Order: sequence, then C-alpha cells, then structure tokens
Amino acid sequence: MNGLIAPHGGTLIDRVLKGAQRQAQQTIAADAKRVVLDAFALSDLELIANGAFSPLSGFMGQADYDAVVETMRLADGTVWSLPITLPVSAALADKIEIGETVALVGEDGVLYGTLDVTEKYIPDKQREAELVYRTTEQAHPGVAKLFARPDVYLAGAIWQIEKQNTQEFAEFRLDPQATRALFAEKGWQSVVGFQTRNPVHRAHEYIQKCALEIVDGLFLNPLVGETKSDDIPADVRMESYQVLLNRYYPKERVALGVFSAAMRYAGPREAIFHAMVRKNFGCTHFIVGRDHAGVGDYYGTYDAQEIFNNFTAEELGILPLHFEHSFFCTKCGSMASTKTCPHGSEDHLTLSGTKVRAKLRAGESLPVEFTRPEVAEVLMRGLRETETVR
Ligand code: ADX
Repeated sequence: MNGLIAPHGGTLIDRVLKGAQRQAQQTIAADAKRVVLDAFALSDLELIANGAFSPLSGFMGQADYDAVVETMRLADGTVWSLPITLPVSAALADKIEIGETVALVGEDGVLYGTLDVTEKYIPDKQREAELVYRTTEQAHPGVAKLFARPDVYLAGAIWQIEKQNTQEFAEFRLDPQATRALFAEKGWQSVVGFQTRNPVHRAHEYIQKCALEIVDGLFLNPLVGETKSDDIPADVRMESYQVLLNRYYPKERVALGVFSAAMRYAGPREAIFHAMVRKNFGCTHFIVGRDHAGVGDYYGTYDAQEIFNNFTAEELGILPLHFEHSFFCTKCGSMASTKTCPHGSEDHLTLSGTKVRAKLRAGESLPVEFTRPEVAEVLMRGLRETETVR
C-alpha cells in the first residue's frame, strides 16, 4: 500500500469484474432473476465493488446487520456504523432461493452486477430507525427513506459488471485504488478527508485550511449521490469547488474527487461511516465539524464528534479532527470559532442554509465574509437554471 494507511479491515476489497470473468458473469446474469436497484442501492453496489466500503464485499446478512444496528460493529467486531442493505419487495424475495445468483439491474435496464444470495430477512425498521437515526419520525429524510424502501433485505456478496454514471464528473470519479495511487505519487504522508454535501462556504474553507496547516494534503470529497431535494444540486456544487480551488488553494496540496454515496442524514452514525470510508480512500485524518451529516434539530451540535469516543484510536485507524462551529467575527476581522474568539454572537456572521437559498433566490448577494463572490455567482446561476428547468 505504498506506506499509506491500511484500509479498514486490512484489505482493500475489489469486486469489479474485468475481461473473461466479467463475460462469464454476464452470461450467468442473462438467465438469472432480475432485481431492480434504485439509485441508493446502485451507489452502494459501486462503493462495495470499488473498495470504498471495505471490508464489506456485499450487502449485509442478518448477523452483521443486527450487530451494526445495535453495537456499531460488524459481527466480527470491526467498527461499522450504518447498515448497508438491499431492500426488495416480499413478492420478489419469495421467488428467490438462497444460493441463487441474481442479476442486479438499474431502473435504466443496464446490468450493473450480480448478487450471490446467501440470506433474505425481514428487518425491524422501527429499531433500525431508533438506533441508527435516533428517531422514528418520518419528517427525518433518512427515516422516511428507510420506511419508503421495500421490506425484505437480500444479502450476499456482489460483483460489479458495469460502472454507473461514468460520464458525469468523469475526471473526478476516483476510486480508492486511484486516490491511494494519487496520494502516493504526490508523496503525501498524511491526508485529511473532507466530506460535504454543501457549497464550500468560508467556514468550510477555514476548517479545511486549518487542517491543511498540519497535514500534507487535503482530499475534498463532496458527496454526489442521492440527497434531499432542497440540497444544492451536485453539479452546481462541483462547479463552485472548482472555482474556489483554482483561485484560493495551493494546487499541489489538494485533490478533488466525488463520493458517489447517497446521503443518509444519520448525523453521528454517518460521521463514523464517512470516516471509515475516507480511510479506505487513503486518508489519515478526517474533518468532523458542527452537526456533521445532520438535518434539522435531530442531533446535538457536537454529537457527531462525541460518538468517536466509543472507539479506540487503533480500531478507528483514521484520526478525526474536530472543529467547533466557525464563523466570521467582525471584531476579530477574521474567521474564528468560540475556541479562538472572545467576542459575542452579535459580532459573528452566520447564515443558515435556508437563509442562503432565500437570498440567492431573491437575487441578493451573499456577504463576502460568508461566501466568496466567485462561489456566490456560481450558486446564483445554478439556482436560476435549476428553477427554470423545474
Ligand atoms: S455534511 O452533511 O456533509 O456534514 P456540510 O457540507 O455542511 O454537511 O458539512 C461538511 C463538513 O463541514 C462537516 O464536517 C460539518 O460538520 C462541517 N461544517 C459545516 N459548517 C461548519 C461551520 N460553520 N463550522 C464548523 N464546521 C462546519
């Protein structure tokens, strides 16, 4: 592994078929029963196959599922905080025998992979919601999604035959093998990973650059899988990152790659998951700021940091870098947090996502202390275009 951090569980999983093996599996799949994957499951398939979800090599069976839901560990004790499952309808599950290989196709009819079915089981979704999301309220987008998906989980190892979405963000679709090679080539001994589902505001830039002061490289890894409808679309966000990186970041110390996972909005549990996945991409450090992966008021501001205390440094492997809520302080005349600024909240400039969208929609500019003008411009244009299409 070129002296880079070991993947989670020790081995980088590779379930992507090539050449003759791929052809053989295509032949098997041609006669197999078909399971249609939604966008959420398709992105999981991809991330299992390319090793981002190492040590998983398939969709979870019941022993792993129960252990993850109840203890944030796989059945063998390895840290893992979110269930990775394949929900199908009871009617379809009834037709599938244990031991069968099924074809995994997209809603577009493309054959993306296969699954060797080892189990089918009915999850207790109420318990999953309560323990994973800390709420059973359907107003929570992750919980709503959990209950909206079908009720039987199919489990077993997967193989990937076709990659999805190869055109979109093509140059930024780096799998863990590619990022590991890139970090090694750049000679980075330490790399901090940054998860985001939002445009890069000054607070993000501040915590990224604070981290960059103490490590060799920054891996900016925006999530481009499924998000809730009022989040800023991924293509607009990607444009804003590029504008910002080009003008304000040292090129040789930053890498940009998309993270094709769906957003779960599971707050603390998702922070652990995000960290483990970034370790698989080769990161040694991972930024966890305020309300990481949170939504509404479901999680405390620093719950996603505190959850890391449940694990030892050895079993995590990657070092979480915790950042306090950051803002621009008009008295300090700089970005700061309550750790570094003595002034009161009346001097601190903060804007909620909702306020930002309202301002952009009204054609109002955002304060430069909050978002760089270049980014605001991209966001305003992006929002106009999205709303025209709608
Ligand atoms: S997330 O759902 O992907 O976590 P977002 O893109 O807003 O949402 O956040 C990316 C990362 O930046 C997370 O680690 C989050 O905690 C952190 N973060 C966002 N805003 C702030 C802020 N004002 N101060 C400190 N950390 C922040």
